[in-house]
Amino acid sequence: CFNILISSCNNSVSSLNLIYWYNTLYKQCVNNRYIVDLLNIEKNLTFISSLSSLITCLIISDWIGIFCTNKFKSVKKIIIAIDGLSSTGKSTLAKRLAKHLNYTYVDSGAMYRAVALYVLEKKLINGGELNTPKMIIELPNISIAFEHNMDINSFDVYLNDVKVSKAIRSMEVSNAVSIVAAIPQVRQQLVRLQQQMGAQKGIVMDGRDIGTVVFPNAELKLFMTASANIRAKRRYDELSTNSSSPSLQEVLDNINLRDELDSTRKDSPLLKSNDAIEFDNSQLSQEQQFEKIMELVNSCLQL
Ligand code: CDP
Repeated sequence: CFNILISSCNNSVSSLNLIYWYNTLYKQCVNNRYIVDLLNIEKNLTFISSLSSLITCLIISDWIGIFCTNKFKSVKKIIIAIDGLSSTGKSTLAKRLAKHLNYTYVDSGAMYRAVALYVLEKKLINGGELNTPKMIIELPNISIAFEHNMDINSFDVYLNDVKVSKAIRSMEVSNAVSIVAAIPQVRQQLVRLQQQMGAQKGIVMDGRDIGTVVFPNAELKLFMTASANIRAKRRYDELSTNSSSPSLQEVLDNINLRDELDSTRKDSPLLKSNDAIEFDNSQLSQEQQFEKIMELVNSCLQL
C-alpha cells in the first residue's frame, strides 16, 4: 500500500492505471482467500479485521491517485525548442521561460563548449586544425554534467567532475567550438543525451538543431535572429565584466565565423525548421520578447 501511495503521488495517469490494476488484482486475491477462509471459522475474526484495514488503505490510495491525476491532468508539459544565430539571447530567454513554467532548462551549446574545452586541454586542436581521429578516441573519456546552482539560479557545467561554467565562455573555446561541433560522432553522443533529458517533456532547450534534429516533434519551436552588430554588442557587454575581455571586433568576427561554420556544416546545420516561429529581436526588449513568446506558449498549452 505504501508503494502505491508513493507512486500515486509521484506520477499521475500511469500510476492511476497501476492502482486500479493492482487493486482489482489484490481485491480479487483477497476475496478468494476470504471465501476459502470462511470455511476456517477460527481464523476469520483476525482476517476480517486485517482485511478491513487493507481495504481502507486501498480506498485512500484510490483517492490520492484520483486527486493527483486530476491535479496533474491540467498541467500539460511541452517541449520548447529554441534555435538561432550566435548570441541572439537564446539562453537568457530559455532560462526565463523555464523558470516561469517550472521547466528544466538545458543549454545544449554548453555541452559542445565543454567538449571543445576538453579538446583544447588535450591539445587536439592546433591553428584551427582538429585532430579528428584522436578526438573520436577520446570521446568515451568525456563526461558532462549540469548541476543546479541556487545562488545564480542557473546550472553549473561540469566536465569530468570539474566545474567549467566560466572556462567554456572564453574566446579560445568560442573559436574552437564550431569546429568540434561539426564532427558527427560528437553530435551523435550529445544529441542522445539531450533527447534523454527531454524524454519527460517540460523542458526548454536552446541550440542550433533542437527543432530540426533533437526534438523534431517539439510543441513549440522558435528561431531567433538579430543583426550581427547588435548581437556582437550584447555579447561584448556580457563578456566585458571580465578583465581579459576581447574587443568588440573580436566578438563580431567570432559570431560571424560561428554562424558561417554552423550553417554550412554537413551534419545538422543551423536551419530554421519549417514549423518554427522566427523572432528578430534586434528591436525588442527582453520584456517585450518574453511577453510575445509567453502568448505562444500559452496557446500551445491550451491545445
Ligand atoms: O554563443 P552562443 O550562446 O550563441 O552559442 P552556444 O549556444 O553557446 O553554442 C556554441 C556553439 O556550439 C555553436 O556556435 C555551435 O557551433 C555549437 N552548437 C551546436 O552545434 N548545436 C547545438 N545544439 C548547440 C550549439
